[in-house]
Amino acid sequence: MPHIRISDVVKTYPPQRRGGDPVTAVEGVSLEIERGDVFGVIGYSGAGKSTLVRLINGLEPVTSGSIEIDGVDVARLPERRLREVRQGIGMIFQRFNLLRSRSIKGNVAYPLEVAGTPRGKRAARVAELLDFVGLSDKADAYPEQLSGGQQQRVGIARALAAEPAILLADEATSALDPETTDEVLDLLARVNRELGVTIVVITHEMDVIARIANKVAVMERGRVVEQGSTYDVFTAPQTETARRFVRTVVRALPDGDALAALREKHEGRLLTISFTDAGASEARVFGALARAGVDFNLVHGGVDDIQGRVYGLLTIAVRGDEGAVRAALAEVGDGVTVTEVAL
Ligand SMILES: Nc1ncnc2c1ncn2[C@@H]1O[C@H](COP(=O)(O)OP(=O)(O)O)[C@@H](O)[C@H]1O
Ligand SMILES: [Mg+2]
Repeated sequence: MPHIRISDVVKTYPPQRRGGDPVTAVEGVSLEIERGDVFGVIGYSGAGKSTLVRLINGLEPVTSGSIEIDGVDVARLPERRLREVRQGIGMIFQRFNLLRSRSIKGNVAYPLEVAGTPRGKRAARVAELLDFVGLSDKADAYPEQLSGGQQQRVGIARALAAEPAILLADEATSALDPETTDEVLDLLARVNRELGVTIVVITHEMDVIARIANKVAVMERGRVVEQGSTYDVFTAPQTETARRFVRTVVRALPDGDALAALREKHEGRLLTISFTDAGASEARVFGALARAGVDFNLVHGGVDDIQGRVYGLLTIAVRGDEGAVRAALAEVGDGVTVTEVAL
């Protein structure tokens, strides 16, 4: 049984003003999220991602369809049971949403107070959580004294207070610079690995997906237009939207001015060799070309790391024909493709 099963979910909001049209924010979404997944949902602004999050934690009812957590349909639970389910779901936000008037330990303690955890147990749990996120020394500080990355780590500690099995992260790194983004993503990866928490990561940034999500769904106008393992979507995106997102991370394909400059500078054909980790590597590709006596120059590209796996896109200029290149690479491994670069 999947940890979270979203089946044909629709969410329509009534018209915002008289005579306006209803807005369908989520339109027939189905996803299966397994226990222990870091499941990424990516899409542009307005795609319906945040709405989906609010439906998963039962903050809003679905218009139709169902959302099951551990096989229980949350949309059809009475309020009291729904509150219990919600307690098992932690949430972190783009703006951290810390209470400014409370110390760091006061913020982390807050959900425990609400849940009625006795004072003594609370203090021990808060200390443990702050230790986990590496902020024990900030226990008595206030949110405004912390960097954005530190504040989000407090947000994560608070979200973990009630020992949730699921953590929903809605644009949790979108307000952070690249360095602090890394620090927060590393922590989320630890939450997943060490605590076994299933994480749903909502983002409009593909590098976030590449770093921590093992699976990804691409949303556009309320629908999931593509989904699969992160590596598969990166190495073989099926839709134009997915390709656009992938290009923001995998910068190894020359285009525009870069391509024109390459054409100017190099004789012969420009070929892009792409390879996955199904047996191929940069060294094996170059070795095979050299052994076959192919006269080539590497002119563009490199190797990307997607979820710790290699994905290569190497553009070479060759004198001679494409057939020789293909023949040379035939024995290198599965997942090697050669395409002529189009101007
Ligand atoms: N409470 C609401 N009432 C009316 N329309 C809403 C509401 N929440 C979201 N929407 C609309 O639903 C669509 C999806 O919004 P949202 O889920 O916030 O997208 P995302 O998080 O991907 O940017 C948008 O067109 C938005 O204006
Ligand atoms: Mg949003």
